Amino acid sequence: MRAHEAGALHGQLNAPSWLQRPTDVNDLLPGLWPQSVRRGSQCGILKVGNLKVTDIAEQVGTPAYVIDEADFRARARAFKTAFDEAFSKELGGPVDVYYAGKAFICTEVVRWVRDEGLNLDVCSGGELAVALRAGMPGERIGLHGNNKSDAEILRALEHRVGRIVVDSLAEIEQVARLAERVGVVAPVMLRTTVGVEAHTHEFIATAHEDQKFGLSLASGAAFEAARRVGELPALKLLGLHSHIGSQIFEVAGFEVAARRLLALYGRIVNELGLPLGEVDLGGGYGIMYNSTHVPLPVETLAKGMADIVAREIEAHQVPAPVVSIEPGRAIVGPSTFTVYTVGITKDVTLDGGQSRRYISVDGGMSDNIRTALYDADYSATLANRRSSAEPRLSRVVGKHCESGDIIVKDEFLPADVGEGDLIAVPATGAYCRSLASNYNHALRPPVVAVKDNEVRTLMRRETEDDLMALDVG
Ligand SMILES: Cc1ncc(COP(=O)(O)O)c(C=O)c1O
Repeated sequence: MRAHEAGALHGQLNAPSWLQRPTDVNDLLPGLWPQSVRRGSQCGILKVGNLKVTDIAEQVGTPAYVIDEADFRARARAFKTAFDEAFSKELGGPVDVYYAGKAFICTEVVRWVRDEGLNLDVCSGGELAVALRAGMPGERIGLHGNNKSDAEILRALEHRVGRIVVDSLAEIEQVARLAERVGVVAPVMLRTTVGVEAHTHEFIATAHEDQKFGLSLASGAAFEAARRVGELPALKLLGLHSHIGSQIFEVAGFEVAARRLLALYGRIVNELGLPLGEVDLGGGYGIMYNSTHVPLPVETLAKGMADIVAREIEAHQVPAPVVSIEPGRAIVGPSTFTVYTVGITKDVTLDGGQSRRYISVDGGMSDNIRTALYDADYSATLANRRSSAEPRLSRVVGKHCESGDIIVKDEFLPADVGEGDLIAVPATGAYCRSLASNYNHALRPPVVAVKDNEVRTLMRRETEDDLMALDVG
């Protein structure tokens, strides 16, 4: 853990070994930004879709999340196309891609997802409400959750969602009872804990039973769940689901998960005689937050996954299922950056002479909790001009009453960054607005979309009236 309750852990003032001092501090790291982002050739202002970030900031204020619509759509389409192509070649059928709404969801984004031919994964009544408000057809929605309420399940059933991903033995009885009440047969998948946990370049293939999600494969709970579903006429078992982690850059973890999942799939088909037809391999595909992250091209990922599934189907002698995946971060993460305005700056120097600049901006852990929560390493750039000053080891911090309120732990920024400058932090599309809070009564920033030289607000900035609306005392 990076922070303790008294504040940030007191670390080294040196740059971490992975952070290279740039030869030109104005350079944008390739792969880190939405595709249309570049620095203007004259004054060096950051541009997205040909619009100056300075103009966007003037129009909508800061902090603001800026999403490049074309970039989002292209990433969504790339997943669908690449996986369809690879799986059609290996397994003779397309893949259902469910965009994981937990990464970021609003009605307009749901419409983009729908229009690009993707389905939608929601994991709460609130996300389901957004999906329905946006007009996503029920059959293209999957409902997740480890502790779904009756109301959430009823709403999903009434809107005929395509799948409910059941997380426990108790939920099987709950969904069956509610399906009988509505008078429908509920289509269910079983969330299976396959004993694999993957993060970044590492995966652990044993002992990850110790978590709240899913039906354990090792203990037999998943097989027992399938048997029980088979007994209940109000349920139809579609198939098995597994999600092994996040920020995964290699397919090895998926290989072990797919092997175990398809072995179980084979047992359910052969021993229980249940005609399953689907396997979902979850999300978790890694993105670039800094120079250490090297995501696989989506085509390579798709081919790797298709090879794995084809091999395991062959090994377990089961009919080829329809495969689905649930990417969230890899679609929305890189399509968005956050713009902040700089306020106070401060230099700290230790005895050894090492120093760091603290750059305070007008947002913080309320709009990006990932640094404090996951020790995430973001990057940043000066957005409103080009600078000829020396690169200076800097830390971008927020305005909250908390010393762990850090947005970017380590970055080389120009030494002349000062009050009124704009800082842009890339790759903030996933799990930033969706995890945003009102800590210190901060007003959550707007999400604005850039397309065809226009800025459009998808979610407006919160107002004090929004805050006061909840304060009924
Ligand atoms: C079940 C499930 N599917 C998909 C995802 C999306 O993961 P990511 O955004 O890393 O692709 C998550 C994330 O936690 C998840 O829990």
